[in-house]
Amino acid sequence: MYNTKAYSAASATSPLAHTQIKRRDPTGHDVRIEILFCGICHTDLHQVRNEWSSIMPTVYPIVPGHEIVGRVTKVGSEVAKYKPGDLAAVGCLVDSDGTCPQCEAGLEQFCPNLTLTFNSPDKHLGGVTYGGYSDSIVVDERFVLRVPAHLNLAGAAPLLCAGITTYSPMRHWAVTEGKKVGVVGLGGLGHMGVKFAHALGAHVVVFTTSPNKQEDALRLGADEVVVSRNAGEMRKHAGSFDFILDAVSAEHDINAYINLLGRDGNLTLVGAPAKPLAVAAFSLIMARRSLSGSPIGGIAETQEMLDFCGAHNITADVEVIPIQKVNEAYERLLKSDVKYRFSIDMASLKSE
Ligand SMILES: NC(=O)c1ccc[n+]([C@@H]2O[C@H](COP(=O)([O-])OP(=O)(O)OC[C@H]3O[C@@H](n4cnc5c(N)ncnc54)[C@H](OP(=O)(O)O)[C@@H]3O)[C@@H](O)[C@H]2O)c1
Ligand SMILES: [Zn+2]
Ligand SMILES: [Zn+2]
Repeated sequence: MYNTKAYSAASATSPLAHTQIKRRDPTGHDVRIEILFCGICHTDLHQVRNEWSSIMPTVYPIVPGHEIVGRVTKVGSEVAKYKPGDLAAVGCLVDSDGTCPQCEAGLEQFCPNLTLTFNSPDKHLGGVTYGGYSDSIVVDERFVLRVPAHLNLAGAAPLLCAGITTYSPMRHWAVTEGKKVGVVGLGGLGHMGVKFAHALGAHVVVFTTSPNKQEDALRLGADEVVVSRNAGEMRKHAGSFDFILDAVSAEHDINAYINLLGRDGNLTLVGAPAKPLAVAAFSLIMARRSLSGSPIGGIAETQEMLDFCGAHNITADVEVIPIQKVNEAYERLLKSDVKYRFSIDMASLKSE
């Protein structure tokens, strides 16, 4: 074991602060990565504040962060895919059983025995896993990904969660040219959804509660922007969408969006508000519409997404911050005041 610097929260009401944590020494198939950038996902905030207590209660102290890009510094004796000096990335998953039907299908995100990057039972050290707001991390090479070297690394970090979480359902629901696709909520996930839907050739409509994001939405790849608080603008799109991705982090009326779907249209929730959302049965019944959800993505698909981003030069639009600004960043995230993802420059942790 070795000590490494990190930022953790001691309770649901404590700010994140500097601490030391223990990591295992890399053995066998382990890869040790010096973390260069870590994105701030709204999930970090939900979990630091224990907002998902009924589903996955937070164990304190918590070290969040699952949008990790860094450089390999050490490898175990059996590691074949990585060597010191390589660029590497880690997303929301760090382990799974590897033997269940989900793992065999390459869908580790559905494995009943998966290990999430933070706040998940740690098989090696006991306690829970600690995430990317840290100097380094040790991960089995099966869960380490390759980042196309020409991508901006600060902007590549958010691909590991915001990227795969929006790419995966768009592939599953066959977003392609000729499809009309809506993206609800222009935050970290939403803005990646817009970039992917545009790159996949769809006609993209952004729904935002923030009128000041309209120009950005068009620049990011939207064909149209609707300010969702304007009922008249919403009505114009009734019954016309093939697919809508809902990436909103807070309570909102999803029936307003289900009603915009055409026959057999699908709305997929990736946003995970703490409280249940009410669904009007008739919104779904009348046009055989469906409502579903989607969690992150498997390892193979995450690599496919990173390669797609390499080929299309896609990264997140980021505001790079030092770790010392993380608490301020959380407050801004709650006000939808980020364009469009915070990416922590982990070099700032070295001075603590
Ligand atoms: N399914 C998964 O695997 C997965 C993975 C990662 C994250 N998530 C979840 O996805 C959600 C979004 O994450 P994120 O990191 O993209 O968050 P984010 O950057 O904070 O974006 C959320 C966006 O939702 C909109 N919004 C916020 N409050 C709203 C309200 N009261 N009513 C209507 N719209 C509102 C805002 O967009 P506008 O300003 O454009 O309205 C905001 O930018 C979170 O709940 C997160 O936990 C799920
Ligand atoms: Zn995330
Ligand atoms: Zn499994």
